[in-house]
Amino acid sequence: MVIKPMFSYVRALLAEVLREGDVAVDGTVGKGHDTLFLAQSVGDTGRVYGFDIQEEALAAARTRVEEAGVAERVVFFQESHERMREFVAGPVQAAMFNLGYLPGGDPSVVTTTGSTLPALEAALELLAPGGILTIMLYRGHEEGEAESEAVLEWAHALDTRRCHVLLYRFWNQKNSPPLLLAIEKRR
Ligand SMILES: C[S@@+](CC[C@H](N)C(=O)[O-])C[C@H]1O[C@@H](n2cnc3c(N)ncnc32)[C@H](O)[C@@H]1O
Repeated sequence: MVIKPMFSYVRALLAEVLREGDVAVDGTVGKGHDTLFLAQSVGDTGRVYGFDIQEEALAAARTRVEEAGVAERVVFFQESHERMREFVAGPVQAAMFNLGYLPGGDPSVVTTTGSTLPALEAALELLAPGGILTIMLYRGHEEGEAESEAVLEWAHALDTRRCHVLLYRFWNQKNSPPLLLAIEKRR
């Protein structure tokens, strides 16, 4: 099939910009699937900084990167992502956000507009010119609907002299399929 699942588009975009030695941020580590992808993309000399507020998520992610033999490339923080600038100096080549709740975890622990918007702004500030910020938005739950609207509005208002913003969506899927925002900081 030529049309791929949404996560493949995220990874294809990130693979375009990430090189050996780069720095990347995972704003929502969860069980670490994205963290592992980033760690594999930045090579032995690169660094990935991962944020999540749940110990359960970070434990699973830590195991995942250890089993893949790339744990030394990753630094995890059990901190809310809007505080990332206190821990990451930048510039970073890529930042990923996969909003919502931990699959298989407590569905009441979700990303929320109040911290997501400052976290996205922080990530955009840390981004190097030519770097990419990706955001997966899920509208299928109550907080996700409001959060998605707020993030879409924030992204729509970004100055075209500062960045390019692209919105991906599957147009004919039912039940609020996820949306992908890709933001490239201009050189
Ligand atoms: C959809 S999951 C992420 C999935 C993950 N990218 C993966 O590859 O498995 C969303 C995660 O965001 C985390 N989260 C919620 N609020 C957060 C916050 N303020 N700062 C950082 N992470 C947060 C949740 O704990 C949850 O693990």
